Amino acid sequence: MVSTLLAVLALAGLGAASSQESCKCTPGDPCWPSTSAWDALNNTVSGKLIRNLPVAISCYLGPYHNKDECANVYTQWYNSTFQELSPVGYCYPTDEPCPPVDLSRETPGKCTLGPAPVYTINATESAELAVGMAFAQKHNIRLVVRNTGHDILGKSEGYGALQIWIKYIRKGIMIQDEYNPSDECCDSDWTGAALTIGGGYVWEDVYDFAFKRKITIVGGGDPTVGCIGGYTQGGGHSPASHNYGLAADQVLEAQVVLADGSIVTASPCQNLDLYFAIRGGGGGSYGVAISMTVKAYPSKPVVAQSLTIMPLGNDTKTLLDVITQLWTDYPRLMDAGFSGYGTWSIDSPKSLFANQTVGYIHAIAAMSMSLSDAKDTFTPLLQRLERYNGTSLCVSVSWFQFPTYAAYYRAMSGVHQPVGSPNSALTSRMFSKAALTENKSGLRKMIGIIAGKPEEKTINSVELVGGGEVIAKKNNKYSGLNPAWRSTYIVNVVARAWADGTDACAAQKIKDDITYHKGGAMRFLTPSGGSYMNEKADRNDPYWAADFYGSNYHRLAQIKKTYDPNDLFWCPTCVGSPSWYQWPLDGKNYGPLCRTGQ
Ligand SMILES: Cc1cc2nc3c(=O)[nH]c(=O)nc-3n(C[C@H](O)[C@H](O)[C@H](O)COP(=O)(O)OP(=O)(O)OC[C@H]3O[C@@H](n4cnc5c(N)ncnc54)[C@H](O)[C@@H]3O)c2cc1C
Ligand SMILES: *[C@@H]1O[C@H](CO)[C@@H](O)[C@H](O)[C@H]1NC(C)=O
Ligand SMILES: *[C@@H]1O[C@H](CO)[C@@H](O)[C@H](O)[C@H]1NC(C)=O
Ligand SMILES: *[C@@H]1O[C@H](CO)[C@@H](O)[C@H](O)[C@H]1NC(C)=O
Ligand SMILES: *[C@@H]1O[C@H](CO)[C@@H](O)[C@H](O)[C@H]1NC(C)=O
Ligand SMILES: *[C@@H]1O[C@H](CO)[C@@H](O)[C@H](O)[C@H]1NC(C)=O
Ligand SMILES: *[C@@H]1O[C@H](CO)[C@@H](O)[C@H](O)[C@H]1NC(C)=O
Ligand SMILES: *[C@@H]1O[C@H](CO)[C@@H](O)[C@H](O)[C@H]1NC(C)=O
Repeated sequence: MVSTLLAVLALAGLGAASSQESCKCTPGDPCWPSTSAWDALNNTVSGKLIRNLPVAISCYLGPYHNKDECANVYTQWYNSTFQELSPVGYCYPTDEPCPPVDLSRETPGKCTLGPAPVYTINATESAELAVGMAFAQKHNIRLVVRNTGHDILGKSEGYGALQIWIKYIRKGIMIQDEYNPSDECCDSDWTGAALTIGGGYVWEDVYDFAFKRKITIVGGGDPTVGCIGGYTQGGGHSPASHNYGLAADQVLEAQVVLADGSIVTASPCQNLDLYFAIRGGGGGSYGVAISMTVKAYPSKPVVAQSLTIMPLGNDTKTLLDVITQLWTDYPRLMDAGFSGYGTWSIDSPKSLFANQTVGYIHAIAAMSMSLSDAKDTFTPLLQRLERYNGTSLCVSVSWFQFPTYAAYYRAMSGVHQPVGSPNSALTSRMFSKAALTENKSGLRKMIGIIAGKPEEKTINSVELVGGGEVIAKKNNKYSGLNPAWRSTYIVNVVARAWADGTDACAAQKIKDDITYHKGGAMRFLTPSGGSYMNEKADRNDPYWAADFYGSNYHRLAQIKKTYDPNDLFWCPTCVGSPSWYQWPLDGKNYGPLCRTGQ
């Protein structure tokens, strides 16, 4: 779509787009604010304005060159907590304009900010967010809202932008044993405990608080993810979501700074449409959340299983047959109470377990289930697997019991995942019970396609995070989630990567393979399914609006218009985003943000 638009606009003579009124101002444009205007902004926010520098700038010649610092950046590059501390550090950057350099082996090339924002307000007070929002509106500058920078679709990037950062707004984490709505909201039917997350905390912070109090909370499988930003507002799956619903379903009320700088409560009795939108309609679109109150549950004991399957020879056909059997059985296992996460590959670029790169592994668990019931649930499946055990496959099962959810999370979930590079293509798809059980030959065929060829080094991650309460909450009227979630049992993510230096055409082929061939095979089997916008969604998905938002897109777009009539908030694939596009800089996939006229 963008390319046709570009053609049309070029004909209309809008060549020097960024200086036109239809585009946001970027550095170098005459409309870009003067140094004194930035200094004045800095004064207004008590010196918290940062002129952003690329994370790896110390590796490059110039005033910031520093060998020791560069060596540190080089070793920490794939550490999400490290990236999170920089205002322009990303887990899954769409571009790598300033890569870290091993100075003992390489000569540094060029280093720029690329698609990252130019300035950041490192806010500690919500009023400072409003100051940044007003400045961006006044000067017609692109605005970016950042929490952790974990987003995978480039939503927390923004060429030429002013960024407002919520990470250091920290007004505390508070518990109520019995939820008492701040606005005495008549409509809340929740009388259990509630946790208020008052700012830019990450799940690690909240788990530390909750686990001490024997409380379970629906938070990230990875503890470095932010709580009140994109994760929760875009859905939020968790080792606890099968039992309690997605993170978006837990939001009882939220404080939100709107585009006009006012702070409102979104709850079932105030700003109901905003409440609907932030419960699943995506981050970065309607306003900036500064606090959320979410449901909290008493911790329960957990029984967990880890299962590993690896082929004994090089026969991956049997492995894929068995994976198909597992997929067919997921709904039964999940209806019995299990949920968790798995990974499988016929030739993974990194080991899946021990030193194996071929096989299937999962860690799944059930709350309040006895070990013997758990084992009984698995008996039929394991009996089928035993046929292959020792002949074509090696199947190994271990069971664990934990007194609390916290102990389970710490031992078997809660892993800090290494972060990605721009050299990867990913897509995700939600599968319903019907899609998993009703067409076995179709499912087997699809598994074969998404497994890829060994030399493609495809990795699949299977997230058993739906079913249960995710489906039971389907009639909730305040849910902006993609309705496809309400019949979803699992989400499968397919990923491929390419080496540095791969030429653009070869990389494009891999992207197309993920979007159209592998993604297409999953779509074929799940025509009414969706794709989870937050995790490992596809930047290149031409059907993103339907895939990420489903039939809620239209309503969400109306809500967006009400709360943000001037499109202060913009992010790629976010609701309302087709009104703008990025005018690509030479040879880049980012550039000034311009109106499309839609
Ligand atoms: C290592 C890793 C592990 C992950 N694990 C999980 C997982 O277990 N489960 C899962 O569901 N997802 C997971 N994700 C995906 C995650 O949900 C998304 O990356 C999500 O966008 C992160 O939200 P954030 O606020 O932390 O990140 P950011 O990149 O800072 O923000 C994401 C989006 O939300 C907007 N935003 C940020 N703060 C606010 C705010 N306060 N108000 C309004 N909008 C805001 C931003 O503008 C942006 O559009 C993981 C991602 C990574 C990189
Ligand atoms: C903002 O002010 C602080 C404190 O005076 C200063 O350290 C910082 O460099 C300034 N930021 C910019 C972008 O000038
Ligand atoms: C990741 O980065 C954080 C923040 O800099 C640091 O505390 C932590 O030790 C790092 N982890 C590893 C494994 O290096
Ligand atoms: C942002 O502000 C916090 C708190 O004031 C401070 O600890 C942190 O170092 C700042 N970050 C940057 C990158 O300046
Ligand atoms: C297994 O590998 C061997 C040696 O590389 C090869 O001869 C054989 O055909 C392979 N078998 C299968 C089923 O791929
Ligand atoms: C994998 O590890 C086992 C022992 O743990 C070892 O015997 C085997 O040689 C290893 N295989 C490879 C390919 O490194
Ligand atoms: C598979 O076989 C191995 C070796 O005989 C055995 O240790 C293991 O328990 C078997 N796995 C299952 C699931 O029965
Ligand atoms: C099952 O899937 C295959 C595609 O692999 C398709 O051709 C077939 O029509 C499907 N069958 C049914 C009953 O939907």
